[in-house]
Amino acid sequence: METIIVTGGAGFIGSALIRRLIFQGQYQVVNLDKLTYAANLNSLASVENDPNYCFELADICDGPAVSRLFDKYQPTAIVHLAAESHVDRSIEGPGEFINTNIVGTYNLLEISFRYWQKLPADAREGFRFLHVSTDEVYGSLGQDDKFRENSPYRPNSPYAASKASSDLLARAWHKTFGLPVIISNCSNNFGPYQFPEKLIPLMIIKAMAGEPLPVYGKGDNIRDWLYVEDHAEALVTILRRGRVGNTYNVGGNCELTNLEIIHKLCKEMRAQMPKSPHIPYTQLVTFVNDRPGHDFRYAIDCSKLQNELGWKPKENIDSGLAKTVSWYIQNRIWWQDILEKKYRGERLGLIEDLKDT
Ligand code: NAD
Ligand code: DAU
Repeated sequence: METIIVTGGAGFIGSALIRRLIFQGQYQVVNLDKLTYAANLNSLASVENDPNYCFELADICDGPAVSRLFDKYQPTAIVHLAAESHVDRSIEGPGEFINTNIVGTYNLLEISFRYWQKLPADAREGFRFLHVSTDEVYGSLGQDDKFRENSPYRPNSPYAASKASSDLLARAWHKTFGLPVIISNCSNNFGPYQFPEKLIPLMIIKAMAGEPLPVYGKGDNIRDWLYVEDHAEALVTILRRGRVGNTYNVGGNCELTNLEIIHKLCKEMRAQMPKSPHIPYTQLVTFVNDRPGHDFRYAIDCSKLQNELGWKPKENIDSGLAKTVSWYIQNRIWWQDILEKKYRGERLGLIEDLKDT
């Protein structure tokens, strides 16, 4: 049986990936996570007692701790998702983004290389380091064109710059040291278990409470949305059949302005909660100061992944939103705990608010 170390497995996408890997029953999965504010082990309740799953509390920046885990588990692959992931927080405090996303990735690459080098030939051949990254490394698009695997890197936020740096390190460890690295760059994910600092869960929770829905700027920025389970399936596909040294873009072929997706969300919530006193939810939309350096448009050309590896998303935006809204309605306990202990839905990432801190 293969042993996969998943870093950041207690996060939104990492937990979706681990649930999928465990349900497939062919893998031993080690969840290596530092449990930052964004982590939630409750997202893994459905697999926590599975004999093929285990959790290890560790920081990817802690070299000796990570090395010990490599020695202990002898992994056949690393899927690296651990990161600081929220753009607004990278404006508030870029330091952790530099540490985890850049130094942490360097650390993992270096430990992986030292470990891989000593493996017998057939194990070296099969080993993979899948570096999970974002379309934000490519910067911002105008009205036309899409991001392709060979699009130039033009990151704009501290988050995007830290992820771009980590991609370049992953590339270098392949080119220079021969480590079997694959990089994936994905567009905006949504779905169950997403921390409510991100647009979709934040809007669902605020709309349920009848609170204003804060739309940055004019709400005309465009994102390309992908249901998280489809991303998890793409990662398994890339891990299994992706070509070493290659990059694969992952996206949902689903471009919407922020206002368009919020309107869709309001419609879906109305359908699922027809008796709410806050209907119509669209009356809650409130335009607020724009995000500094706000990228205008992201759009992914994922034809390489579709044509080469045969992946395509199973959910469309309407079916994905319906599942997501239903999940947040039924799993109040999951997000209420976060609101009470970690994040109350306040605005993050405005430079004028930083002056007093
Ligand atoms: P998330 O913020 O929900 O989870 C991140 C996880 O990483 C948490 O469990 C956290 O505890 C862990 N972590 C953070 N720092 C760590 C450290 N130093 N050591 C060990 N663990 C640490 O993130 P997400 O939205 O699930 O994103 C996962 C990955 O996918 C990230 O690399 C992100 O850049 C990338 N990505 C995200 C999206 C998206 O839309 N969310 C899209 C494309 C790519
Ligand atoms: O594109 C992939 C990226 O998508 C990932 O790499 C990031 O980890 C992930 O956080 C996401 O980044 P975004 O910045 O696009 O996601 P966010 O949910 O923060 O914002 C989506 C859009 O909605 C963006 O244009 C900003 C806007 N927005 C966001 C919030 C939180 C609002 O208008 N109001 C809000 O309250």
